[in-house]
Amino acid sequence: MTTSMKLTGFLATLIILVVIPAYSWIEPTHQENLLDNHYTNAVLSSTDLYAENCTVCHGAAGEGIGDTPPLNSEAVRTMSENDLSKVISRGRNNTLMAAWAAEEGGIFSNSQISDFTTFIQQANWDYVEARVAELGLTPPDVIKMEVSDEMVSSILALPDGERLSEGLFIYADNCAACHGANGSGTIIAPAIDSADLRTRPKEEIINLVNSGINGTLMASWQNILAPEEINATVDLIYRWPELIQTGIDFPEVEVMSIPSSPELIADGQQLFNIACKSCHGVDGYGSPMAPALNNQLFLEETPDAAIYQIIAGGVSGTLMPAWGSRLNDYDLQSLVAFLRSVEETAPSILPPILGK
Ligand code: HEC
Ligand code: HEC
Ligand code: HEC
Repeated sequence: MTTSMKLTGFLATLIILVVIPAYSWIEPTHQENLLDNHYTNAVLSSTDLYAENCTVCHGAAGEGIGDTPPLNSEAVRTMSENDLSKVISRGRNNTLMAAWAAEEGGIFSNSQISDFTTFIQQANWDYVEARVAELGLTPPDVIKMEVSDEMVSSILALPDGERLSEGLFIYADNCAACHGANGSGTIIAPAIDSADLRTRPKEEIINLVNSGINGTLMASWQNILAPEEINATVDLIYRWPELIQTGIDFPEVEVMSIPSSPELIADGQQLFNIACKSCHGVDGYGSPMAPALNNQLFLEETPDAAIYQIIAGGVSGTLMPAWGSRLNDYDLQSLVAFLRSVEETAPSILPPILGK
């Protein structure tokens, strides 16, 4: 039974028992006030749950982050109650949108889901944004390499420029954080503007990007990008010298060195609470959505670089998002530092199996 059905029943009973006999002295807006109160309560209780569980993907003001759609749009606000509650309860297969209803393996009761539905239809997103900030849960900025209009028009002027600029946008969103805005590499990844790389056949490079390089930060991209997108990005690698020749001013992408400190651990813990707790549970003890990370065997057997890689690249085919495109290197390192810091006191339980 949905809350709105419950409410209708409740109102009907109320009208018969109280409102009709006492009609003469009850102000006519009483029913409306009851409804308003119901909405207000649903919206207020959902705001904090939204802040804790949804902002990391949908944004503090419902604006959507990275590839995650906005929730503050007219299209979502006017979705039917049934469709909205279905997507929140059951999630969407093969996307990062998890099933949130307890009966679907999530963490919310049916009445909380119903409140979320009302919340999304009624939310004042300015208020939500302020509340998220008050709770200290505003998500970090997504790493983005800015591709300027000038840059795009110089590239479009090149032969087959359209394809080249498509490749550059994909590169900017997915690869630049590690390989550098100008393709010349960073502390964590080699240059891909490399004459050496260009001597290798295109098939080989496409395979490499499809499969990734096991045990390194280079994740498999075949489930994240479409074949044509990978193709366009690999073309870009071969045509990098043409980009340089246009005299394009490449922006900077900041990458930090690898430190470990009490501050880093504290930052990692805070970020964990924002981005990971909803699935991995309080302090990483696990939940029905995802395995425990506060787990001695897992931490003992997994080196820092591998933990970093898992967090950045996600685990294809599972709910584990690839965070590399929305968190910067410092954030990712802080998460590793935080997880490492709980190793000593972590319970020794069987490590979950990666992949399948
Ligand atoms: C890990 C990222 C992530 C989290 C956390 C998340 N979502 Fe989503 N959500 C998505 C993605 C991705 C989609 C789009 C799925 C698709 O492609 O259809 C989505 C879709 C939706 C939609 C449908 C929007 C539309 O345009 O059809 C709603 C409603 C929604 N999410 C609500 C929520 C609520 C409420 C929460 C918190 C309880 C939440 N989401 C948490 C990633 C997330
Ligand atoms: C999380 C960081 C990261 C991201 C994001 C990333 N890479 Fe890599 N990539 C690496 C690392 C690290 C290596 C080197 C692996 C090794 O040690 O062999 C690498 C290697 C490569 C190589 C082989 C280089 C060579 O000289 O052999 C290619 C090609 C490549 N990446 C392309 C891409 C493309 C295209 C994207 C975006 C779709 C991408 N990478 C995204 C980290 C990353
Ligand atoms: C939407 C749910 C969800 C969110 C949010 C999420 N994870 Fe995960 N994560 C998973 C699932 C599910 C797995 C298990 C994947 C598998 O089957 O191997 C996983 C696996 C992992 C693993 C590998 C552990 C293992 O034993 O398999 C690490 C490390 C990890 N996540 C770290 C993080 C960090 C750090 C964050 C926050 C930045 C995060 N996760 C956010 C769902 C999530």
